[in-house]
Amino acid sequence: MSKKTIRDIDVSGKKVLVRCDFNVPQDENGNITDNRRILGAIPTIKYLIDHNAKVILCSHLGRPKGEVKKEFSLAPVQKELSKELGIEVKLADDIVGESAKKLTQDMKEKEVVLLENVRFDKREEQNDREFSKELASLAEIYVNDAFGTAHRAHSSTAGVAEFLPAVSGFLIEKEIKFLGEALNNPKRPFVSIIGGKKVSDKISVINNLLEKVDTLLIGGGMAYTFFKAEGLNIGSSLCEDDKLDLAKELIEKAKKKNVKLLLPIDVVVAKEFSSDAESKVVKVDEIEDGWEGMDIGPETIKQFEEILKNAKTIMWNGPLGVFEFDKFAKGTNEIAKIIGNTDAITVIGGGDSAAAIEKAGMADKMTHISTGGGASLEFLEGKNLPGISCLQDK
Ligand code: 3PG
Repeated sequence: MSKKTIRDIDVSGKKVLVRCDFNVPQDENGNITDNRRILGAIPTIKYLIDHNAKVILCSHLGRPKGEVKKEFSLAPVQKELSKELGIEVKLADDIVGESAKKLTQDMKEKEVVLLENVRFDKREEQNDREFSKELASLAEIYVNDAFGTAHRAHSSTAGVAEFLPAVSGFLIEKEIKFLGEALNNPKRPFVSIIGGKKVSDKISVINNLLEKVDTLLIGGGMAYTFFKAEGLNIGSSLCEDDKLDLAKELIEKAKKKNVKLLLPIDVVVAKEFSSDAESKVVKVDEIEDGWEGMDIGPETIKQFEEILKNAKTIMWNGPLGVFEFDKFAKGTNEIAKIIGNTDAITVIGGGDSAAAIEKAGMADKMTHISTGGGASLEFLEGKNLPGISCLQDK
């Protein structure tokens, strides 16, 4: 999957349309609460500026469903970009309308213009050919650097590549390198930790990982579906009853593939789902009715640590407990610390796992934290991402 990047194309004096993923979380006052996705795009933008390109940025923010809604404007992103780049980034009032045309028509080299939220036009998500063409007509080269949206076949993430030479930016290049190498060419032992609430969200990931890893550690809410499949009582813990057979199949597949699949041996259970609920540690075969699983227990942390200490590649996706509640974040935090202190190559799938690592203060210790949520999951499932496959091969 070797794709051309901005290094492989002459951008000097050219108008370059760059699709970024500026879908950043904001508080109720519109302040950006996590700017990692903006920071992730900066190396590409700086390279283009340094190489005398005329830079036209575009992105979606949220899901405005084809309507212009002020709360989804990219204005806060424009401010953050201007600050990070140390130059004034101009924001167009629209995407392919009068304002965008006016701002991009007579651009000078090194100038940066940001188009408004591409999802203000309903044709974006329909991957409408006319819209893709209009978008393309603003520029001479297309760069996709929106890894977080690379699993969507939309006009700005894929359609536009039909009309312009299309290459990847540095963020997509980096994501492919770390996620791809960990998955397809790992240093062994290769250990993966999969957490999160539901087995159903991660079936395809687990299936694909069972073809690749030496050991698979499972935690989080999904572990209880596995426990029940093995005949254990799980009290009022989260369970997907329609996925019990599937959990059994995954356990069988692990055996066949000689993959060590480890479930927690003890857990923290609580009387109710709340941040200050009464709680206790129990062995997994001692969960009583009326109690629900909230975190992995201390024995499990120790057992997982033994495995992780010897790993050469670690890939983690999904929190191991209800990490949003401090009382039940210990398992996730401890594992984050253990991983951060190994010498292994450590690759973290985005979304909740990235937030958990960030919360544990271990972000700087990881080799790579993906900026993709859904996109990294689909990548780990082994799927082709339209935003990447549309780019020119090397
Ligand atoms: C994300 O946050 O996962 C990406 O920006 C994609 O957003 P979407 O799920 O609304 O397409």
